[in-house]
Amino acid sequence: RRRAMTMAVGSAGSPGSRSGAGNGAPETSGKPARPDTAGGHGDQKDLSGNGKDNGAAGGASVPASPAQQRQGAYVEREAWLTKQELDGDIRFECVKYSDECNPTHLEWLLALKNIFARQLPNMPKEYIVRLVFDKHHRSMVAVKKDKVFGGCTFRCFEGQEFGEIVFLAIAAQEQVRGYGTRLMNHLKEYAKRDEKLTHFLTYADNNAIGYFQKQGFTREIFLEREKWGGFIKDYDGGTLMECALNYCLSYTQFTKIIKRQREFLDAQVRKISKSHVVYPGLEHFKRLKPGEYKRVEVESIPGLQEARQSKRDR
Ligand code: COA
Repeated sequence: RRRAMTMAVGSAGSPGSRSGAGNGAPETSGKPARPDTAGGHGDQKDLSGNGKDNGAAGGASVPASPAQQRQGAYVEREAWLTKQELDGDIRFECVKYSDECNPTHLEWLLALKNIFARQLPNMPKEYIVRLVFDKHHRSMVAVKKDKVFGGCTFRCFEGQEFGEIVFLAIAAQEQVRGYGTRLMNHLKEYAKRDEKLTHFLTYADNNAIGYFQKQGFTREIFLEREKWGGFIKDYDGGTLMECALNYCLSYTQFTKIIKRQREFLDAQVRKISKSHVVYPGLEHFKRLKPGEYKRVEVESIPGLQEARQSKRDR
């Protein structure tokens, strides 16, 4: 069952310039530059609900808690992507070539093949076609408005409970928007739920190592060699990477779960602390002329009384 050819996936260039030349291909040559990538996450919406007034007394505003503020770009991006999925704008589906393959799936596989051919220009096109349309391989496709904009072709070795990622790409105009991460999360969730896999292995090009590390892949291979040795071909110039799948975790939901946990924790802290309440600043100094000094009544400092009271209560 040893494969005749290397299954390397890879990209070239730094994360910033990622040129997308997949130099995991057998004959690596010059790396053509990829078209410019889409401009970040500019159209992300604020789904965090930050800045909502929670009704604190005394005219004090309650800004987003530090925990909410620190939720970070990753969570925000995932929330943005999840919303797109819920709205039906994008979806991720696993398809497989077969004699009975429905025409839509065939079209999707064809479109995915074209994306791979473009994004992995050093990979022989015949090789891509052969594996995408191979009955042992499956592809997780990313679809937006019925158009495929990315995907991943992989092979499951059910007996050994691992999967091998063969090709993975997102169309140039959709890159750097989190779709690659979301695709990987759907792939992991599918692998656990439908295939009962425990690990993913891939031969990553050196330039793609950063991407895979961010997806939880490590250079250390913990899976017993007997399980994968001889099934995926050794490859010079690529790095074998592994990702162990966590069955306690929902890869497509975990940002939502983390957000809920943070909100809960934050709510508990708010019960015992008033540190989240921000009072308006002192107006006193605004009314003074330059060089003028006037005593401030301590009692007039917003929040001071409440702070004394809460200290006495403790
Ligand atoms: N090297 C290092 N880091 C990379 C990277 C690379 N080649 N590609 C993406 N990343 C980082 C991103 O900066 C981002 O980091 P962040 O989470 O800290 O913001 C993270 O990985 C995920 O990026 P995301 O926007 O989800 O990925 P994407 O939609 O741009 O898709 C690829 C990533 C690799 C699939 C896409 O760039 C691509 O199709 N490349 C060409 C084909 C290719 O090289 N495929 C081989 C697999 S890497």
